[in-house]
Amino acid sequence: MTSTLPIHTEKTTFRLPFVAWAAAVLAACSLGRALASPDTDVSNKLDFSTDVVYEIVTDRFIDGNSANNPTGAAFSSGCVQLKLYCGGDWKGIQNAIENGYLTGMGITAIWISPPVENITTIINYSGVDNAAYHGYWARDFKHTNPAFGTFTDFSNLIASAHAHHIKVIIDFAPNHTSPASQTDATFAENGVLKDNGTTLSTYSPDPGNFFHHYGGTDFSTLENGIYKNLFDLADLDHNNSTVDTYFKNAIKVWLDLGIDAVRFDAVKHMPFGWQKNLMSYVLGYKPVFSFGEWFLSPGEVDPANQYHANNSGMSLLDFEFAQTVRQVFRDGTASMTSLDSMISSTATQYNQVNDQVTFIDNHDMPRFQSSGASNRPLEQALAFTLTSRGVPAIYYGTEQYMTGTGDPTNRAKMSSFNTSTTAYAVIQALAPLRKSNPALAYGTTQQRWLNSNIYIYERQFGSNVAVIAINRDLSNPASIGGLFTALPAGTYTDALIGLLNGNTITVGSGGAVPTFTLGAGAVSVWQFTTAATTPKVAHVGPMVSRAGGTVTIDGRGFGTTKGTVFLGATAVTGTSITQWEDTEIKAVIPSVTPGTYNVSIRTAGSLTSNTYNLFQVLTGPQVAVRFVVNNAFTSAGENIYLAGDNFELTNWNATAPFGPLFNQIVDAYPSWYADVSVPASSVINFKLIRKGPSGTVWEGGNNHVFTSPASGTATVSVNWQN
Ligand code: NOJ
Ligand code: NOJ
Ligand code: CA
Ligand code: CA
Repeated sequence: MTSTLPIHTEKTTFRLPFVAWAAAVLAACSLGRALASPDTDVSNKLDFSTDVVYEIVTDRFIDGNSANNPTGAAFSSGCVQLKLYCGGDWKGIQNAIENGYLTGMGITAIWISPPVENITTIINYSGVDNAAYHGYWARDFKHTNPAFGTFTDFSNLIASAHAHHIKVIIDFAPNHTSPASQTDATFAENGVLKDNGTTLSTYSPDPGNFFHHYGGTDFSTLENGIYKNLFDLADLDHNNSTVDTYFKNAIKVWLDLGIDAVRFDAVKHMPFGWQKNLMSYVLGYKPVFSFGEWFLSPGEVDPANQYHANNSGMSLLDFEFAQTVRQVFRDGTASMTSLDSMISSTATQYNQVNDQVTFIDNHDMPRFQSSGASNRPLEQALAFTLTSRGVPAIYYGTEQYMTGTGDPTNRAKMSSFNTSTTAYAVIQALAPLRKSNPALAYGTTQQRWLNSNIYIYERQFGSNVAVIAINRDLSNPASIGGLFTALPAGTYTDALIGLLNGNTITVGSGGAVPTFTLGAGAVSVWQFTTAATTPKVAHVGPMVSRAGGTVTIDGRGFGTTKGTVFLGATAVTGTSITQWEDTEIKAVIPSVTPGTYNVSIRTAGSLTSNTYNLFQVLTGPQVAVRFVVNNAFTSAGENIYLAGDNFELTNWNATAPFGPLFNQIVDAYPSWYADVSVPASSVINFKLIRKGPSGTVWEGGNNHVFTSPASGTATVSVNWQN
């Protein structure tokens, strides 16, 4: 039953100093602690569903060490020039961990700016000086940005974070180096790429072909955005073997320092196949949760985005979620029915919707809070995000109601560290529920009551339930009749302890809730947890692996005696199960036929779990290969696809082959190309396929045969066979 401890019913508790307050919240959550599990621990680097992430623009948070501040024109004392460095660093973030600001809010993961060495030159754009304070203008991916700290400072941050049960996520931006000009080598630092201090190449000249030289993208097609420059950023060619190897070695540097996850920048702008090959390296070396940034505009739904989330081995930032939440709560351009539709449609678009990273604002969009607006919509949007499927990420300062209409005013210096704002208290109240109630971390979502201003939704995992009621109308309370829930009969106080004007409900037998009033602008959270009686798999990570890889299975009711893990019908037992706990299992993937499997478990007592579907077992370690076909002529509406004799090339699947291939930039029609992640050191049979409105046509002749390299990249070029 939900807590009815006085701490949850007394509004006066808001006045407690935050340390006492945090202790009180933890104590109150001890009811759920019976279910506490390894997935609540920083040791789980693959399951972030129970975490709450806090996104920090490192330079803008806390200056913990003024000795590392850039000097001269790169630095803005007092942070008045927002395109220059302001002094924030890893020591400052460590301070915010150790003084309890982050842990007091319930934060269990931080996402920090790209940590790597950036260019130090100042670039003047339209009369304004710009420094690389944001970290997206890399020069050497194997060095630290000295303005943020040394490797020792970074290791200290990781150690401190882990000691405080906080995971560390680095931002990593391998799409490009820094702004460069094709015609002016003196512009900025000419896009230089360095390997641990040694120059590999400049943008122009570029004798080793490290970069693309096709000009800037007009964003017209996926291909245009991948192979042309994003703005003026020197775009790396990942088909270059040295570039590919460089990034595997560079991410290894940071994995070896103990990072827990990676946020990949601009994944829409890099070849899918190269990214899958990089993920395969990461997941084969030191697997960590990874999520990419694939921007979507309001209302935009993109199958290529979904394919990436479902097949690359990394999740994505959930822009559909963010844009809809902003339309509904911030901009008033959509109603609660849109919120519900987004929840339903994304649940089918994303194979693992719980692994997508949700948010309401970030460093690239106007801050959620507008000057002069009520605070309540932001508080409602936060409550919605913290109680919805997906991994919530909160942008620094949102809890302080910081405003800012866009880059760079949305990246101002952290305004205050006030632990008694309502937004801070909302996060503090809800974050621990993601650990204690698996309905919030892992559950399904069902609409229970809906109109344009009111959304009541229910999260459910096994017999664990949470019901959340939101009234977006800030002026009018509403009478809620006919509500049904899966909550067992009983009385439920608001887990938000009245912070947002919520109420208590009584649930009758059969789940009927007698008519009650939901206050104007209210959010109520009612929840129930209970010990599992049958095994239930909640999460599997990573979802792309290979024989010999280890998979982490989280859930409830596994028992404490080792049982069996199943990949489809293949049983994994004995020493291949390296950990078996009531809520977490680790197992080594056996040598099954490469392909897609349902994962399930059977307890020692012979109880069988649900299946967790679409787990990919790749053929082996991967390399990125560019497939080129020349003289492939098509009619309007037709495209060229690729299929071959391994799982990566779809096992000759003419219905869903790999593609369509590209035909405009690196090679042009009637030539077509794609960068594909394929097994290393393998003899690959393949063919091209022409598909269009009038059907599917395999090319003729014998199969093309190609042997992939053991490492590095390759290109195989063939002629279309009639
Ligand atoms: C997306 C990042 O979030 C943004 O801030 C950055 O400028 C671009 N990618 C380029 O790295
Ligand atoms: C699939 C495979 O059998 C392959 O060998 C063949 O070339 C194509 N189908 C086209 O018929
Ligand atoms: Ca500093
Ligand atoms: Ca690119």
